[in-house]
Amino acid sequence: LFTKPWVFRLGAPSLGLLPAMEGPEIAFAGRSNVGKSSLINALVGQKALARTSNTPGRTQELNYFNAGEGPVLVDMPGYGYAQAPKDKVDAWTRLVFGYLRGRQNLKRVYLLIDSRHGPKANDLEVMGLLDKAAVSYQVVMTKADKIGPKALEAAIAATREAIAKRPAAFPRIVVTSSEKGSGVDLLRGEIALALSG
Ligand code: GTP
Ligand code: MG
Repeated sequence: LFTKPWVFRLGAPSLGLLPAMEGPEIAFAGRSNVGKSSLINALVGQKALARTSNTPGRTQELNYFNAGEGPVLVDMPGYGYAQAPKDKVDAWTRLVFGYLRGRQNLKRVYLLIDSRHGPKANDLEVMGLLDKAAVSYQVVMTKADKIGPKALEAAIAATREAIAKRPAAFPRIVVTSSEKGSGVDLLRGEIALALSG
């Protein structure tokens, strides 16, 4: 799956412009700047498939990527970015939350959490929404190259505690660095499993 060439298929700025629900979709959600777009690029091994940026608020639509007829990877706007104009932030939040709770062909959500910060209030809010909608999700810790092993262990422990007893949370946490490539192969395996289940 990840050895095929992936292409950008479409960007949906609102829920009404999403394509018909067809094949399985795998979505990447998380706070602004957590590394969603970078992780998609690392997964497919294409540096510039999804647009990335140093400044939060880069991804502003639901961006669909596929490799031919197979599953779709959905890059999403981040949540929790207070610097953007309020009407924009509100629109992104509506788009992301609306998509997450109302997409029947959404196979699994990868919920990205920065290894340096651990789960924040809005991450817990998204977990609650996914639990309620019974949408399977799995946490990915990002930017593991940016902290030492002790701090990383603490962030993983905090995350483990945050997902414990949550009905729709998948128990395995995947620790990644898109920069170094660590954990990426493991994540490919998890996605393949999610798609086959
Ligand atoms: P929005 O679309 O704005 O919500 O951001 P995003 O979650 O898509 O983040 P993006 O992939 O654009 O990455 C944000 C910044 O973090 C960029 O400067 C990336 O180069 C950097 N970054 C992403 N992943 C990693 C990583 O694993 N390690 C390091 N060191 N930097 C990373
Ligand atoms: Mg992005």
